[in-house]
Amino acid sequence: MHPSASALLAWYDRHRRDLPWRMPPGGGSPDPYRIWLSEVMLQQTTVAAVGPRYARFLARFPTVEALAAAPWEAVAAEWAGLGYYARARNLHAAAKAVAARGGFPESEAGLRALPGIGAYTAAAVAAIGFGLPAVPVDGNVERVVARLFAIRDPLPGARPKLALLARGFLDQAEVVARPGDFAQALFDLGATLCTPRRPACALCPWREPCAARAAGVQDGLPVKAPKAARGLRYGTHFLARDPAGRLLLRHRPPEGLLGGMAEIPGTPWRESGPWEAAEALPHAPLPAAWREAPGTARHGFTHMDVEMRLLTARVDTPAPPGLFWLPEAEARAALPTLMRRLLALDEAAAGVAPAPRPTRRRL
Ligand code: ADE
Repeated sequence: MHPSASALLAWYDRHRRDLPWRMPPGGGSPDPYRIWLSEVMLQQTTVAAVGPRYARFLARFPTVEALAAAPWEAVAAEWAGLGYYARARNLHAAAKAVAARGGFPESEAGLRALPGIGAYTAAAVAAIGFGLPAVPVDGNVERVVARLFAIRDPLPGARPKLALLARGFLDQAEVVARPGDFAQALFDLGATLCTPRRPACALCPWREPCAARAAGVQDGLPVKAPKAARGLRYGTHFLARDPAGRLLLRHRPPEGLLGGMAEIPGTPWRESGPWEAAEALPHAPLPAAWREAPGTARHGFTHMDVEMRLLTARVDTPAPPGLFWLPEAEARAALPTLMRRLLALDEAAAGVAPAPRPTRRRL
């Protein structure tokens, strides 16, 4: 039996978080573009971190047409630091598709067909942006549902079952009448009360019907299958500066990890261990008096960590083919976070304190 959606909606009406992409209660229909953007940003970044970046992105690209018309470099620069560039590329591609067809498709299936829009985003935009009956299932919703029905099957295998249970709420007229509020009520419940650790069951509008709470197992749900260890790769990068203080950069290949983003040129990232300087040198973008900066920079992707060393040099030559000089301030804006970690290494080398060389494995 599904618990009453009305109880959750009544709780949401009193306790909903005031977030930049939310309409005031009863405040008219939301702009699907804004909802879509917030959902894509929130898939990779916390609510607190998204706030200012969301406003900035909208100031720069106020409509889906503006985003579609912008060059990829401008979108990438605005996305820098938000991570997962494939999402930004898909966002840009989907904006072009939407602009070309003259507006967003107004169905969950139509949204799902846009580049990079998965089941979650399609359901979220359908429910919140268009008021269509859909229940988006993110990690928060999975946790709430797993507890409500005391589902003990481990994630990620339990996903289809949890999604089906979440969809079951659409049998209630209150959910069909307010699908966007219901979705966001689930998000807020998961983020504020039904938290991963020490859920605040005493305050929960669903404390009575919650099967996990009745059995006293809420802290242990959802069960997660053990994760495969993340691999570690090693790279060495070459930071060249010219007398004007510009940095020598290149673009990564358009497909794959950080596709199309600017980077400080370097060796391939390999698994077999750190590159000795002499071994890395043949990968330098040009011959120079390369000097090794102390320390290493570490960056975590979802599926692997990269440990990078840095060689620096002053050079005064035109950029070799495929590379370009960029003033430092522009380079900082364009470079993704892991490359900025290399710039920090360079700063530490120029300053007094050498950056520590971390141990090879995460503690
Ligand atoms: N997480 C993902 N989407 C959200 C939303 N619309 N409100 C709050 N948290 C969210």
